Amino acid sequence: MISSKLSVVLGLLALPCARATPYSMVYEYAGPSFFDGWDFYGNFDNLTNGDAIFVDSTQAEDLKLAYVNDAGNAIIKVDNVSTVAFNEKRNTIRINSKDHFDVGSVWITDMLHVPFGCSVWPAWWSQAPNWPVGGEIDTFEGVNQVTMNQMALHTEPGCTQASPVQSSTLVNSTDCSFQANSNQGCVVTTPSTQSYGEGFAQAGGGMFVTEYASTGISIWFFSRSSIPSSLQGNASSIDTSQLGTPVANWPTGGCNIGNFFKPQSLIFDITLCGDFAGNAATFSQTCSGTCYNDYVVGKGSTYDNAYFEVQYVRVYGANGQNTTISAAPMSISRPSTKAVAGVAAAAAALGLASW
Ligand SMILES: *[C@@H]1O[C@H](CO)[C@@H](O)[C@H](O)[C@H]1NC(C)=O
Ligand SMILES: *[C@@H]1O[C@H](CO)[C@@H](O)[C@H](O)[C@H]1NC(C)=O
Ligand SMILES: *[C@@H]1O[C@H](CO)[C@@H](O)[C@H](O)[C@H]1NC(C)=O
Ligand SMILES: *[C@@H]1O[C@H](CO)[C@@H](O)[C@H](O)[C@H]1NC(C)=O
Ligand SMILES: *[C@@H]1O[C@H](CO)[C@@H](O)[C@H](O)[C@H]1NC(C)=O
Repeated sequence: MISSKLSVVLGLLALPCARATPYSMVYEYAGPSFFDGWDFYGNFDNLTNGDAIFVDSTQAEDLKLAYVNDAGNAIIKVDNVSTVAFNEKRNTIRINSKDHFDVGSVWITDMLHVPFGCSVWPAWWSQAPNWPVGGEIDTFEGVNQVTMNQMALHTEPGCTQASPVQSSTLVNSTDCSFQANSNQGCVVTTPSTQSYGEGFAQAGGGMFVTEYASTGISIWFFSRSSIPSSLQGNASSIDTSQLGTPVANWPTGGCNIGNFFKPQSLIFDITLCGDFAGNAATFSQTCSGTCYNDYVVGKGSTYDNAYFEVQYVRVYGANGQNTTISAAPMSISRPSTKAVAGVAAAAAALGLASW
């Protein structure tokens, strides 16, 4: 039985070196095939009342609103070449991943540029198809000329942020219920002006890491110069315990992740005005004039910065688990709503939405 003894000894020897790398890459959206893994919404923004048309994949290609540039990066943008007449909407993009990712997943996006400017409302986020059932995780979101990213969860009633372990002290709200505070969600602001807008681009962009684990949901933001070496290059496996304190954290103590969250579809979208960016009080904080009349209408040059440039999106699954729900059929609607008006639409959609 020398061999079995030997293997025990080898196993023991291997332990200190074989540090657990809990997550392995399961999908990479990158390069020429970046857009293959997504569905295009193909309808005007009937979710958040934006003055935007989320074009279908054919129009997106024809109008060059979603394409892979010469550097091999995905561009997702607002139409900045068309003149929009009064009472019309402007073309832009909303895409959601065909695959859904269950608890035990991490998604990372590396971006060089994020959309910003008056009337612009971009987000990189995720949602379960029967929202608010199954929850929503907003990793990146901002409006108009704000300078810092905001992160949030939106859930059914009963989920709150309690005892987080996070580096941000900018906590805006702790009740994640879509019924509380006009569906503001439990919001944490990233305390860095390199996390949004011009500051993000000037710093060479950066990386957002979202961990959806049974112990809690966590988000890390790394500006280009502070990306940890373990995430540089082609990291086929990652260990989130090595990433330091997350900028936002919602532990399962205040929110039972298993109860409130279901497999998530990843989403990039850019809408214009609508319930959040177009809210008069919010708009006037960083922009002048009227959201629709003075920006959406007319020439598009105001949207020259309204684009995502994405080097990749990578999804990781917990080792030993299959956390990918492959190519789930597109549901009829997945409303993300920030205001009361949208909640009514969301409620109306619930009966229709399905896997
Ligand atoms: C959240 O709080 C931060 C810091 O006080 C503030 O700058 C930001 O505007 C707030 N965000 C919202 C959506 O209220
Ligand atoms: C990273 O590794 C994956 C899996 O091995 C591979 O499919 C992908 O092309 C690599 N990406 C880059 C940018 O090298
Ligand atoms: C539209 O914006 C892009 C950057 O997203 C810029 O390169 C281009 O020059 C703009 N087009 C026009 C007609 O302004
Ligand atoms: C994971 O499970 C899904 C069904 O939900 C299946 O389609 C897929 O092939 C599985 N992936 C692996 C790697 O086993
Ligand atoms: C939005 O439009 C799509 C496509 O017409 C439709 O299927 C969906 O039910 C609409 N959603 C809402 C909330 O009105």
